[in-house]
Amino acid sequence: MIVVDNVSKSFGPLQVLHGVSLTIERGTMVAIVGRSGSGKSTLLRCMNALEEINGGTIQVCGNRVAMEDRASVKRLRSEVGMVFQSYNLFPHLTVLRNITLALTVVQKKSRADADAIAHKVLGLVGLADKAEAYPEQLSGGQAQRVAIARSLALSPKVLLFDEVTSALDPELTGEVLKVMEDLARDGMTMVLVTHEMAFARRVADIVVFMHQGKVWEAGPPAEIFADPKTPELRQFLSSGL
Ligand SMILES: Nc1ncnc2c1ncn2[C@@H]1O[C@H](COP(=O)(O)OP(=O)(O)OP(=O)(O)O)[C@@H](O)[C@H]1O
Ligand SMILES: [Mg+2]
Repeated sequence: MIVVDNVSKSFGPLQVLHGVSLTIERGTMVAIVGRSGSGKSTLLRCMNALEEINGGTIQVCGNRVAMEDRASVKRLRSEVGMVFQSYNLFPHLTVLRNITLALTVVQKKSRADADAIAHKVLGLVGLADKAEAYPEQLSGGQAQRVAIARSLALSPKVLLFDEVTSALDPELTGEVLKVMEDLARDGMTMVLVTHEMAFARRVADIVVFMHQGKVWEAGPPAEIFADPKTPELRQFLSSGL
């Protein structure tokens, strides 16, 4: 579904990604973990063409992504959804309108079709009763689930999540992780940057440990957690983060 091949990325003189290669199979959940500053968010942003890469290639659903190729970026946007730590809901729009906006404006769906889709995805994240609420009336966990619903409404083939629970307290974190686990069970392809190690261990198919802008180790959670090969991963796991 996604093939990242030898990707390098620099910000000015600072090289952040050093030849990252990673293959994400359809229907799998890949969890990216690693220390702050190891390049996790940058890698995710490169996958979604929010950053231009300086070397290597990224293919999504068989198509090479290049920021200068507007058609490839447009296709990518229709295939890949991304959810961030800050949910970025429009405060002046109801939950329903937050979800239908892109459906009516970008996808040119009728209001009735868009509403039907919005109600369906709100049901999937357990918020069927919040359609008419405004973002300020939601808890952090509910707002984050609306943000996930908004991505789902566009029927992406892949969903990228960047630390979607790190602003939430433990109880709210649990309800968002539950939604992500349900999506995984339904076969959604997902890449998530997370500090939730217990969740990654239990739910992810592949765990990728990034260190100093490289894929330092990657494998099924049973291997990564039970039998780390490098001192860096061993230390990361024992640091409790
Ligand atoms: N737009 C930018 N301009 C300059 N430097 C950047 C930019 N974005 C990220 N960096 C730098 O790239 C490095 C990797 O950042 P990145 O956000 O990918 O790390 P991360 O692994 O996601 O960390 P965290 O766990 O703290 O979110 C950091 O040194 C960061 O300062
Ligand atoms: Mg980050």
